[in-house]
Amino acid sequence: MTFEELKPKVIDILHHDYTLRDEKLLQVCHLLKDNIDYYDWVGFYFRNGDKEELLLGPYAGEPTDHTVIPFGKGICGQVAVSNKNFVVPDVTTQDNYIACSITVKSEVVVPLFVDGKNIGQIDIDSNVLDAFSELDERFLEFVNEQVAKLF
Ligand code: SME
Repeated sequence: MTFEELKPKVIDILHHDYTLRDEKLLQVCHLLKDNIDYYDWVGFYFRNGDKEELLLGPYAGEPTDHTVIPFGKGICGQVAVSNKNFVVPDVTTQDNYIACSITVKSEVVVPLFVDGKNIGQIDIDSNVLDAFSELDERFLEFVNEQVAKLF
């Protein structure tokens, strides 16, 4: 499915009246993972209150041990500090990287802003090398802008 086809489906999920926020986020994770062939793990991490750490939120894909990530650690922890998208075409080139699965070859993390504050992020892992382009970044920014309205 194309990004343009997925966008209204994301909005539909998020606008559902009687669904809890985490359930909506879980459905978005599955929508993306199931319909974009190179998205092999899709998940949200959120800042743990005022602590400088991220907690794993809803996700689709293999369970990960990395349910708590300190700010600054790994790709996710770096995005928590930089407030900027991080595209990793080849994870083997990164020193500050937390491997969730040996099959992962590339990754993209896009921060999630609510009222200008970085409250978390969406994280995508791919088993394909150099899987992500600027189109993925724009699409994931769109997803996060929609998700932000739930907070
Ligand atoms: N690879 C991430 C950790 C999260 S997993 O990909 C699910 C990182 O380096 O922060």
